[in-house]
Amino acid sequence: MKILVTGGLGFIGSHTVVELQNKGFEVVIIDNLSNSSKDVLKGITAITGKKAIFEEMDLREKTKVQDFFAKHADIEGVIHFAASKAVGESVDKPLLYYENNLGVLVYMLQELTKQEKARFIFSSSCTVYGQADKMPITEDAPVKPAESPYGNTKQVGEEIIRDTCNVNPSLSAIALRYFNPIGAHPSVHIGELPIGVPQNLVPFITQTGVGLREQLSVFGNDNPTNDGTCIRDYIHVVDVAKAHVIALQRLLEKENKENYEVFNLGTGRGSSVLEVIHSFENVSGKKLKYTIADRRSGDVVQAYADTQKANAVLGWKAESSLDDAVKSAWDWEQKIRA
Ligand code: WQD
Repeated sequence: MKILVTGGLGFIGSHTVVELQNKGFEVVIIDNLSNSSKDVLKGITAITGKKAIFEEMDLREKTKVQDFFAKHADIEGVIHFAASKAVGESVDKPLLYYENNLGVLVYMLQELTKQEKARFIFSSSCTVYGQADKMPITEDAPVKPAESPYGNTKQVGEEIIRDTCNVNPSLSAIALRYFNPIGAHPSVHIGELPIGVPQNLVPFITQTGVGLREQLSVFGNDNPTNDGTCIRDYIHVVDVAKAHVIALQRLLEKENKENYEVFNLGTGRGSSVLEVIHSFENVSGKKLKYTIADRRSGDVVQAYADTQKANAVLGWKAESSLDDAVKSAWDWEQKIRA
């Protein structure tokens, strides 16, 4: 069965391609290589022994999207990762984000709604909750005003899909709200490849560990948490990838009762920045150099998932511990700098 993965050479996309191939799906990848590299294809094949069909394409070119679906009429499901994801950049270049993340989404849905039956999985984010009033965060927690154009594209993206599903029973879709995916494939053939100075905590830590960065700045230690640093739900990227395959299987199997659903993808466990640093020190045997800095504007104090819905409905649960995930990130960092 043929599945399209857009952005399939990116961080979460590549790990999902591996899990799909492991389950026997035939995968077609579309990627414009704006934040990824063709070498990732080799890493995927080194793990699974299988080749994905790869089309280098920019999905903003609507006629190309149309031609693609005309050529691949046998695609049974789409997992749509292709999007821009840097919060800071989105503030400077809002139109780029609206075009990449929403314009493209509309083109994809326009094609899928022409099909007799279509299944669609969307990369959403816990960012839609903002600072939630209650922890852990359930899927019915209110969506708060977005802090950035990036966050807004995830909120509006979900609304576009929901509205489209409402009037198109032939389309079924699932939006997966990721908490903080980290780590790399345990084979260390694929992992995260941040461009420039990482904005995210774990790649910054591992780059500091290998000596690429002098020290980590911990953004604030005066928050109302146990140790004063912010709390997040860090989840192994392989667990996130597996959830996509399970969500796809649900769309392929289920009768079309509710054709739009939303699930949190997290571990259900909150970890503070200092806990992540300690985990790194534990798995690497190295001391991490860090300093306490001011809070980062826009950061919520804490966010961790209630995972009951994903457990009960999808039968999915994150399996890896924080140490497993941090260790895989560290192994990957050492491999790519060797
Ligand atoms: C984690 C914690 C920082 C860097 C991410 C994505 C965002 C959205 C939600 C995507 C925070 C602290 C970080 C550093 C630090 N999801 N930190 N020093 O903020 O949860 O956002 O998830 O779809 O796009 O970026 O993750 O990894 O940036 O930060 O102290 O150098 O680490 O303050 O508490 P965040 P993060």
